[in-house]
Amino acid sequence: MTQNSVRPGAQARSLLVVVLAAGEGTRMKSATPKVLHEVAGRPMLAHVLAQAIGAGGGAGDAVAVVVGPQREDVAACARASAPGAQTFVQAERRGTAHAVLAARAAIARGYDDVLVVFADTPLLRTESLAALRARIAQGAAVAAMGFEARDPTGYGRLLLEGGELVAIREQKDASAQELAVRACNAGIMALDGRRALELLDSVGCDNAQKEFYLTDCVQAARARGLSCAAVFVEEEEAMGVNDRVQLAAAEAAMQGRLREAAMRAGATMTAPETVFLSFDTKIGRDVLIEPHVVCGPGVEIADGATIHAFCHLQGARVAQGANVGPFARLRPGADLGPDAKVGNFVEIKAATLGAGAKVSHLSYIGDAQVGAQANVGAGVITCNYDGFGKFRTNIGEGAFVGSNSSLVAPVTVGAGAYVGSGSVVTQDVPPDSLAVARGRQVDKPGWAAAFRARQTPKPKG
Ligand code: UD1
Ligand code: MG
Repeated sequence: MTQNSVRPGAQARSLLVVVLAAGEGTRMKSATPKVLHEVAGRPMLAHVLAQAIGAGGGAGDAVAVVVGPQREDVAACARASAPGAQTFVQAERRGTAHAVLAARAAIARGYDDVLVVFADTPLLRTESLAALRARIAQGAAVAAMGFEARDPTGYGRLLLEGGELVAIREQKDASAQELAVRACNAGIMALDGRRALELLDSVGCDNAQKEFYLTDCVQAARARGLSCAAVFVEEEEAMGVNDRVQLAAAEAAMQGRLREAAMRAGATMTAPETVFLSFDTKIGRDVLIEPHVVCGPGVEIADGATIHAFCHLQGARVAQGANVGPFARLRPGADLGPDAKVGNFVEIKAATLGAGAKVSHLSYIGDAQVGAQANVGAGVITCNYDGFGKFRTNIGEGAFVGSNSSLVAPVTVGAGAYVGSGSVVTQDVPPDSLAVARGRQVDKPGWAAAFRARQTPKPKG
């Protein structure tokens, strides 16, 4: 997807991204820290990092992530999502400015722009963050992201005079008149890197919450004769996640974006509201996705492929013109070649299907390679696991595996070979031969009639 594209011109200025991820997230009622909860298959922290890094692009850019004490899991996620990210611990929660100052050492290195983002706002767009930076480039000392709130309760209010930002007032410190203002602070802020430390250090905690407010950087800048700006975005983009209900709302909004991007790029979705994608799902042109399809992370669907109703895909590749489902499951490592077919109630895991190969009904194909044009009949199972190790099955090009056969791995069915239906194949089948590995049929003429005649009818009742 193209959301992370870098704006031309942004590269000219160096950027430090400071991500505040020290939140406790107690309202999530979870053993997992809030910012590691996932939206569209990726932790919220990773979303925010990707979007913020996308607003930069210069070789001198850096990322600082502020985490709570003993939050090695959050730090590890930050490093995995943004290699080179430095993490800083905020030992005590004393406000947003205090949290930013936990990354003092990074800020002190000197950057053109310092961009502060919260790790629980997964819907931020790179474009909006770039717009904040642009206001700094144009001479503002502070640029805050704002939105018109349907219900402003709880948010800081943006106080504007003639289009210029003069202050941000927290709900708990606001007058009745200020509380009527609907322009709200999203919390995201860009600061002029040359002024950032001076402004942050000047913030006090003489307020209702006795916290060091990042928002007070605005008044601090104004007191120094510097100007401040606001950049307005849709409320959805500024949405912060504090509980599972808001997490679901963020998920819904993100799904809407992903579906729209896929359709605009040339995919057809019969009922898009029933299709669930991941942040990295790649869907080509003229792909048809029928209702009720779920794509976990790592899915690529090439041009002209069809995913029929009720399929679940994860870590899977579907090549051009391939046909999947209905009711198919592609697990990680499933790799379907061009025009391959995977039909109903089939599970594929860590297996490659060559061009035009068919696994049409009720099969499990795991740790396997299926050659081009091979036909795997109904109910064929690769027995890949003995309780300890996993073993591979190779099915050669053009082979035909009869229905209800078990292929006990490790085993190879040679190219062009046939396997008789109902076989349990435990040794390699040479190419172009027939393997039959089942009990021979025995017919006893008249047996059934004689059997019935021997039975005495039971009394009724
Ligand atoms: C903040 C803004 C408010 C804005 C709102 C938007 C300030 C003072 N207020 O208020 O104007 O409308 O966000 O949602 O900035 N954090 C730390 N350490 C701290 C305190 C906070 O890391 O000591 C992190 C939190 O984990 C969170 C973010 O900073 O990710 C915002 O903190 P929070 O307490 O939610 O601020 P709000 O009161 O919502
Ligand atoms: Mg908050």
